[in-house]
Amino acid sequence: MKFDISCLQPKEQASFALRALYEAAGCRKYHMGRFEEYGLYQENRSFLSSEQVITFTDLDGRLLALKPDVTLSIAKTAQPAPGETLRYYYHENVYRPSAESHTFKEIGQMGLEMLGDVGEVQVRQAVSLAAQSLEQLGQPWVLEVSHMGYLFGLLDVLDVPEASRAALLAKLKAKNLHELKAAASAAGLDEAGADALAGLMSLCGSCEDVLPRVEAACRNERMEAAAAELKAITEELAGAGGSIRLDMTLAGEMEYYNGLVFQGYLESLPRPVLKGGRYDLLMQKFTPGAGAIGFAVYLDELDRLGAPLPPVQQQKTEKTMLNVALPKGRLGDKVYDLLAGIGYGCPEDYNATRKLVVENPAAGIRYFLVKPSDVAIYVEHGAADVGIVGKDILTEASADVYELLDTGLGKCRMCVAAPADYKDDPSRPVRVATKFVNIAKSYYASIGRDIDIIKLNGSIELAPILGLSDVIVDIVETGTTLRENGLRVVTEFMPISARFIANKASYQFKHREMDEMLEKLRAALAAKEEKK
Ligand code: PRP
Repeated sequence: MKFDISCLQPKEQASFALRALYEAAGCRKYHMGRFEEYGLYQENRSFLSSEQVITFTDLDGRLLALKPDVTLSIAKTAQPAPGETLRYYYHENVYRPSAESHTFKEIGQMGLEMLGDVGEVQVRQAVSLAAQSLEQLGQPWVLEVSHMGYLFGLLDVLDVPEASRAALLAKLKAKNLHELKAAASAAGLDEAGADALAGLMSLCGSCEDVLPRVEAACRNERMEAAAAELKAITEELAGAGGSIRLDMTLAGEMEYYNGLVFQGYLESLPRPVLKGGRYDLLMQKFTPGAGAIGFAVYLDELDRLGAPLPPVQQQKTEKTMLNVALPKGRLGDKVYDLLAGIGYGCPEDYNATRKLVVENPAAGIRYFLVKPSDVAIYVEHGAADVGIVGKDILTEASADVYELLDTGLGKCRMCVAAPADYKDDPSRPVRVATKFVNIAKSYYASIGRDIDIIKLNGSIELAPILGLSDVIVDIVETGTTLRENGLRVVTEFMPISARFIANKASYQFKHREMDEMLEKLRAALAAKEEKK
């Protein structure tokens, strides 16, 4: 019987196609074992997506790890000679923690690395192979390109201290303009500096539109060199088959890279399937003077490739539908009224039915009515394109989404509260009852106080009354619940309001629709504010 490749899973088919592509480009397969010395990860933590690694002691007492990453091992062992460029590809499994399953996951990766003499030619070849890898996967694709030199060049001009950079990168990475300004001011920037940083947010879109603005906004040689490289790369990629987008906030994702960075998305998949960039500084730790560029394709993400969209998510008309995760309840009603007022209403009253999906194909809008605490999950997983969620839930879930707007709706505060006569006893940990375990842990870690957490799902105020806990960490809106139960606010530490969030992959393919909704929302909220 003849072997039929189409009976293989999408990721298996992809691995054959990518192997052929990389071999034809002159890359050699690099095979390695599953284990690596743990010290390698300890010394290069910033290169890993998580510091959590599975470790074990070898028979001779060495501390080993199940590989969380392939690039580090190749960079360590490759040893290119001066003037030599090594071109490798690999197909390996890595082991990383998964927040969803609360355990480690085995992740299949196929990737490519160029090490040693890495100049313009090699960079072009690597990025072009990244684009060709996406093209092999047979779906419409987007390659987002950015440059660390551009971002760091601007941070240099603005004199941003090293210690403040991570906080700013986090806001850029989430496209969180509303909190970027406060973070900039906390980093010591004046208004002009904060505006310059905020300007990076608008440098996102097609090359024709964004590149001239990227060039015009350069303020030093580092930024100019980065812009020139971006121009050369986008020219190289013209005609690659997919859509090439520039996004100067992408650099926030990838602090360990030092030059060009890029990320690839396929239509219908909710997360990036390819990530890469230039990492000379890491390479130079192992081989002085050497450069490096590479990327990885996340094969497991391809599992859902080609699966038909559930009927409820399919297009009904030519108009692209935006799928909105709407929190059921009071906040959802406020948000829906706002959206209906700017042209996103539905003929059907969702409050009058038990239906969980209502839509208006003519307006290109579809609502999924979900529990408020689940909004971020639907959006992060791409089941909905956008959603509206309280900052409390978003922070607790650490959802990897864009946080595009603070709607100012549903305002309240995250507080520590306790019985009126409560006094902290420093001789033992504080017993904290809460729904927001992660928020409570990180607040108490920030003040250096040891705690015992008691996770509850509601009616938190009961816990200290019954002696189950000393304090609670919870949201306070009017303060009525606290008052009526004899509790008082000890500390307020996080202002909360509803945020408009977006799935990162959906944003690549439906950015026009999302930007339009965002602009209308901004205008409606500003008009509402003016009326007050
Ligand atoms: C929230 C929160 C407080 C209350 C605060 O509870 O957990 O209990 O609202 O509001 P207030 O300051 O205006 O009194 P929610 O209604 O979500 O119910 P829950 O107790 O089940 O969490």
